[in-house]
Amino acid sequence: MTARADHIPVLLDEVIRSLAITPGAEIVDGTFGAGGYSEAMLRSGARVYAFDRDPDALLEGADLAGRYEGALRLYAACFSIMDRALTEDGVNAVDGVVLDIGVSSMQLDRAERGFSFQKDGPLDMRMSRDGESAADFVNTADEADIANIIYRYGEEHRSRRIARAIVAARPLSTTAELAATVRKAVGHKPGAPKDPATRTFQAIRIHINSELDELTQALDAAERLLRPGGRLVVVTFHSLEDRIVKQFFRERSGGAGNVSRHMPLTQTKGPEPTFAKAEKAVRPTKAELDRNPRARSATLRAATRTSALPWAQQEIAA
Ligand SMILES: C[S@@+](CC[C@H](N)C(=O)[O-])C[C@H]1O[C@@H](n2cnc3c(N)ncnc32)[C@H](O)[C@@H]1O
Repeated sequence: MTARADHIPVLLDEVIRSLAITPGAEIVDGTFGAGGYSEAMLRSGARVYAFDRDPDALLEGADLAGRYEGALRLYAACFSIMDRALTEDGVNAVDGVVLDIGVSSMQLDRAERGFSFQKDGPLDMRMSRDGESAADFVNTADEADIANIIYRYGEEHRSRRIARAIVAARPLSTTAELAATVRKAVGHKPGAPKDPATRTFQAIRIHINSELDELTQALDAAERLLRPGGRLVVVTFHSLEDRIVKQFFRERSGGAGNVSRHMPLTQTKGPEPTFAKAEKAVRPTKAELDRNPRARSATLRAATRTSALPWAQQEIAA
């Protein structure tokens, strides 16, 4: 079995249905991964612009691009810059944007990528394979900064104790060393349903890859790029991400009152909604969870773009 085949696309049928693809529709797949969504969209007759910041994912995507010659374009880039990258290629608007946030099974399962506490590998966690690694962070950051990251991005209330233990154990160079340090700091009951290192690993990964900033910027980019009637479909895997998506849809559909960081406070009339009210969130069925337990925390949210100008442009026009 190839590494690509190891990633089972999450909520695939629901994503494809939600995108309402018509032949020739132009869709951005912001998170190519193993190409599961892209392949299904190509099969439905779409032209796909696929992004992934992980160079390994795109190497594996070359095969798919070959099979759907001309219909799949791959971008080794972050999804936060999707509109800029496409505009440079002469594409100014698309019919759909899909984001499947988080890590792929290939990233998690390959020990050398350093994402998993279940496999020993170098403490890396960089999706793009450049910039600060997890080892750089835990070995050089202040104890207070480490505690803040673990608290904020791991929602871990024992963050101070863990940060103290990390600093005392430095230098740390492997995922097993970090996991053992966290378990020792907070106590590990063998057989407990959740490993105590889970939240700390999530937090450091989010920090290293600026995941929440990336998501926030991608939603704005999608607002700029989508045609009226276009669909924005986002799958998230934990509450921090889901909150950002839910809030974005609520705000941009006019459901959060007329308060906007894009509009002056003196403005009496709020900006025009750029999205229709988001549909009810979709969660995996029991059948999907039986097939793929990794889907358990997935949530799909989606909404349709209106014809209003993006909020940042409405501000300029106001
Ligand atoms: C859950 S996987 C996507 C799986 C894909 N939907 C499929 O069906 O195969 C997430 C992918 O998004 C990529 N990714 C995460 N954050 C990104 C970002 N800010 N920009 C571009 N790609 C990103 C990861 O490298 C990973 O390959």
